[in-house]
Amino acid sequence: TERTLSIIKPDATRRNLTGKINAKFEDAGLRIVAQKRIHLTKAQAGQFYAVHAERPFYDELCEFMASEPVVVQVLEGEGAIAKNREVMGATNPAEADAGTIRAEFAESVGENSVHGSDAPETAKEEIAFFFSGLELVG
Ligand code: GTP
Ligand code: MG
Repeated sequence: TERTLSIIKPDATRRNLTGKINAKFEDAGLRIVAQKRIHLTKAQAGQFYAVHAERPFYDELCEFMASEPVVVQVLEGEGAIAKNREVMGATNPAEADAGTIRAEFAESVGENSVHGSDAPETAKEEIAFFFSGLELVG
């Protein structure tokens, strides 16, 4: 089975949507094998999103991710990376399929409620960014 890194972003934690979002993951067959609530500094958010450093929205994205606590989690399941991105829906909630997390909960393309790793290599890096081996239960 595969693992992926998920973040419930500040717009969603602020509105108490963690449970509803987790229900979507579990209904899709994704198991939450690690989870914690943390408040990123802007520098940490910048490090996590370093691949987007040259994009015009980078500063806004880092400010947002550090604005309030997030819930970081590891999801496990068959094809977890692709499955999670399916459940999340398109980056822009206006383009997200009905029933997806972003269609139901996201407020805008920037404040779009969830992050999910996009490939096996990034999933591995992103999980290691937030979790130690001791925190990852089989
Ligand atoms: P993540 O799972 O968060 O990585 O989303 P994604 O893979 O669907 O999108 P992408 O990696 O292209 O962008 C990363 C994040 O940057 C998005 O989830 C948004 O929060 C933010 N973002 C992307 N495009 C825009 C934009 O045009 N404006 C703003 N403000 N934020 C954006
Ligand atoms: Mg991405």
